[in-house]
Amino acid sequence: KAMTQDEMKKAAAWAALDYVTPNSIVGVGTGSTVNHFIDALGTIKETIKGAVSSSQVSSARLSALGIKIFDLNELDEFDVYVDGADEIDGNMAMIKGGGAALTREKIVAAVAKRFVCIVDESKTVAVLGDFALPVEVIPMARAYVARELTKLGGTPIYREGVITDNGNHILDVHGLTIHAPKELEARINAIVGVVTNGLFAARSADILVIGIPDGVKKYTA
Ligand code: A5P
Repeated sequence: KAMTQDEMKKAAAWAALDYVTPNSIVGVGTGSTVNHFIDALGTIKETIKGAVSSSQVSSARLSALGIKIFDLNELDEFDVYVDGADEIDGNMAMIKGGGAALTREKIVAAVAKRFVCIVDESKTVAVLGDFALPVEVIPMARAYVARELTKLGGTPIYREGVITDNGNHILDVHGLTIHAPKELEARINAIVGVVTNGLFAARSADILVIGIPDGVKKYTA
């Protein structure tokens, strides 16, 4: 019987255990796919030192399973960061931040040697941009940044009611067709008041695990 979308997320998440180094600290992302990974990690918690987390939500879930959380500032680097994505293209560039955790995700990913992306097959795309690009902004800069994003050809929508773990706001930029993700990532980051944008192109994934209706597919960059 073919898997549902959630079963595909779960299959990808459990397959990512293959990339967890024994006795290591594991970088953990955020989202419904990662929640399955956290459950999987709970079953092998005796074999790891602990985790470094990209959100308060993931930290709470890790702690509830008895997995020790490390502060990123205590670590020089660590082996593997596991996270989902909202979209991933053929070069393993991603749009992330559907869960508003993009800034901490990008920080933790930057310190990891390898980024393992776990998705169900609906997340793979030829060109990024159908999923609105999240941009975290300092609250007082929101309207200014929105005008600048409009000049880049997008339609920014304020994600009302959402405050990030860092106390900031999110603009979701609709209507972009992103043929040059690295360039756009740098360009948006250069707008004053932007904290981070959800393009992960300068730092793309190294390994991709896709849940498909009859199992998983794995790719290495
Ligand atoms: C969180 O901010 C995001 O970057 C998530 O990684 C992304 O939204 C994927 O989430 P799901 O696994 O819930 O689809």
